[in-house]
Amino acid sequence: MPHLRPYVSAVVRRIPITTREQRVEALDLAGHNPFNLPADQVSIDLLSDSGTGAVSVDQQAWAQRGDERYAGAESYYRYRDALREVVPYRHLLPVHQGRAAERVLFTALLGEGRISLSNTHFDTTRANVERLGAEARDLPNQELFDLDSDHPFKGDIDVAAVREVLDGPDGHRVGQILVTITNNGGGGQPVSMANLKEISALARERGVPLILDAARFAENAWLVIRREAGYEDRTPLQVSREAFELADGAVASLKKDGLSPEGAFIGLNDTELADRCEVDVIATEGFRTYGGLTGSTMEQLAQGLREVVTPEYLADREHEAAYLAERAHHAGVSTIRPSGLHGVYLNAGRLLPHLSPAQFPGHALACALYREGGIRCAELGSLYLGTLDENDQLTTPAPFELVRLALPRRVYDHSHLEYVGEVLAEIAKNPESVPGYRITENPPILRHFRCRTEPL
Ligand code: F0G
Repeated sequence: MPHLRPYVSAVVRRIPITTREQRVEALDLAGHNPFNLPADQVSIDLLSDSGTGAVSVDQQAWAQRGDERYAGAESYYRYRDALREVVPYRHLLPVHQGRAAERVLFTALLGEGRISLSNTHFDTTRANVERLGAEARDLPNQELFDLDSDHPFKGDIDVAAVREVLDGPDGHRVGQILVTITNNGGGGQPVSMANLKEISALARERGVPLILDAARFAENAWLVIRREAGYEDRTPLQVSREAFELADGAVASLKKDGLSPEGAFIGLNDTELADRCEVDVIATEGFRTYGGLTGSTMEQLAQGLREVVTPEYLADREHEAAYLAERAHHAGVSTIRPSGLHGVYLNAGRLLPHLSPAQFPGHALACALYREGGIRCAELGSLYLGTLDENDQLTTPAPFELVRLALPRRVYDHSHLEYVGEVLAEIAKNPESVPGYRITENPPILRHFRCRTEPL
């Protein structure tokens, strides 16, 4: 059966068509950091899949029914009930975005000297652990370090390594085990249900809370259905529920699989813990029946949660990501294999071997994609993950020099992705012409969002 995209555009947005000259100037003004570019100078925006998707006409229709009363609004109950269909926890607290959920829950679970163990902490997640004086320790599946292998579940957490920490001298300091589904910092790779069952059993045996960072719970469920024996006949809703049931709680940004520009939740079974979080949410986000969200947004989220678990939608998402990966390969650019759903991760280190990690090849490729084609994306390499000395010289490089082409949901069609492939092919024809970079301004925290750089 040929693939049929299960929707059409109902409203469109014009995108700017710029000249190379304009882009060179814009990049200069932006301190050669794509995060600083005004979006109206970006033609294809693959910086993030977060809050950047298109909403459906049904979501827009529901948004019209937004009930904005301060407490107990109808919209809250519709949102909570839709969420509970997928996320079967006793307590569900709305907040405005994922990092707010992290801040509130981690404040309740961690503190000075505590440890959070994860397959990989996402960047803001790590920041929310570290700002409490706690340690964020990544223990991913070793398969993650072979970018070319086709292992289906490179997102898994290394259960043996977690056990070792729990049994070791640091064991008593572990405040949570956090499993990110899918593993965004680790190439968008999925976590298997077998792995979740194993880590769940270990966490329960040791009395350590197991929390999911479930920003892409539906995409993880889809990849489980596609790749894990025994799950092929299950629905995305069933698999999502099973994943949540294996954990004690979850934080999730709904700017991804809530198909909404904003929203997130904290889900917990433990009433005492939920109570402490609720106080924090009321003090910092909003009353417990809106948590900083408008009634319209909650309605939009309720409908988004119903749409995101449909097999047609998820199959289309898989198809688009696979198409972009195929275009990259056709252009001669390697990607992390196998493709996930929310983006394609380019192996910039391999494409630009003339640049050392200290010249930031991932960042160089991200800047080249903008300069040559008006395409915005971000590096996941030594600029983001490397260690620098006081003179901004790289001392420890990242394990890989990658670039993430994130795919906004339901936004770009094949012709846009084909264009990305063509621009990549142009760059790949003459890779040595891509210059390296040096840092000119280096903020101490969250460097990649805030630094300025210049070409060498
Ligand atoms: N956890 C994961 C795994 C994420 O990917 C993100 C956001 C967050 C937490 C934070 O959620 O943005 O709603 O506060 N990821 C975006 C990205 C920004 O581009 O990958 P948020």
